[in-house]
Amino acid sequence: MALNSPSTDLFRPMTLGALSLANRIVMAPLTRSRMGPEGVPNEMHARYYAQRASAGLIISEATNISAQARGYALTPGIWTEEHVAGWKRVTNAVHAAGGLIVCQLWHVGRFSHVDLQPDGTAPVAPSAIKAEGQTFTENGMMDVSIPRALETSEIPGIIEQYRHAAACAKRAGFDGVEVHSANSYLLDQFLRDSTNQRTDQYGGSIENRTRLTLEVTAAVVEIWGHDRVGIRLSPVTPDAGNTPLDSQVMQTYGYLIEQLNRFQLAYMHFVEGATATSRTVPGNVDLDALRARFKGPYIGNNNYDIELAVTRRAEGKVDAVAFGRPFIANPDLVRRLKEGAELAVAPRETYYGNGAKGYTDWPTLAG
Ligand SMILES: Cc1cc2nc3c(=O)[nH]c(=O)nc-3n(C[C@H](O)[C@H](O)[C@H](O)COP(=O)(O)O)c2cc1C
Repeated sequence: MALNSPSTDLFRPMTLGALSLANRIVMAPLTRSRMGPEGVPNEMHARYYAQRASAGLIISEATNISAQARGYALTPGIWTEEHVAGWKRVTNAVHAAGGLIVCQLWHVGRFSHVDLQPDGTAPVAPSAIKAEGQTFTENGMMDVSIPRALETSEIPGIIEQYRHAAACAKRAGFDGVEVHSANSYLLDQFLRDSTNQRTDQYGGSIENRTRLTLEVTAAVVEIWGHDRVGIRLSPVTPDAGNTPLDSQVMQTYGYLIEQLNRFQLAYMHFVEGATATSRTVPGNVDLDALRARFKGPYIGNNNYDIELAVTRRAEGKVDAVAFGRPFIANPDLVRRLKEGAELAVAPRETYYGNGAKGYTDWPTLAG
């Protein structure tokens, strides 16, 4: 298969629900930890996203839906008027450059530190089971804290946080939202029996463990309409927090996907494998078979290059492909992929922090 196979439709327009994309190349959500302490985007962030507006669709970096949702310093929020005004700059800039952008709605659950939480309280989770690893706080890297289990009576408040953030994202001019139910953050923690040991209606059976993701999706769909809401899942990644997989990946995520079908979402988006690490999946898991249970457009992600994207598109395994790391150093990634041009590689040191350096200073082919 030629690099820039002329027969591929990856570079032709498509639709995801109500979204009309110029091509099937999506920018995956990328946390870049370049916000101020209040998490309000400014002109620099608007420039960064506008530079990448030739993607068929941009999925924003994960965006905290509340103060309690935070697990990393210098990440953005979408729950105050300041957040709405800041993101408006970004969405205006992306639209002026001809692009589309949806907001990834994020609650980290247990993967947080008391320093990042309101009043220094414990992070919340389905069960009081600590994650592994460290997170970035205003005081440097810290071991994540022991979480406390949410009371059943607090769950409506969590759903309300999503609803409020979704409404803020709408006023900020986004084209839609992506429910972040991946990467072992709050919603994924509820899905997996490794992190969810509850005995109420949100724990135990598959029906119970999938309930929160479905209730959040319903709330967000009420705000946006079904065709501007997507969802991200990562059935087999241990990140974040080296989180054990669910003991029945095919059954749990299969049931979830069957239930998601009733919403007729704009898209479902998988991290295929271990996030930003490998495409290997356990022997008893078949992600293509899982995906096939979804009756709508599908975005594949994780370690794609153009050859894999062209091949999986030709095989009908994906409707669109999301690229993450390649978008960091190649703002004009779509053009480069199309022309078979060489890709710049962003060093890891540029991923997080450091202002404009390694962020908005990557040249395009045109210079
Ligand atoms: C620096 C960095 C930040 C990321 N931030 C997010 C994020 O905010 N939300 C999310 O769902 N995934 C996030 N991811 C995962 C990416 O969206 C993507 O799944 C991963 O990088 C694999 O795609 P790639 O091989 O094209 O980079 C991040 C990955 C990296 C490397």
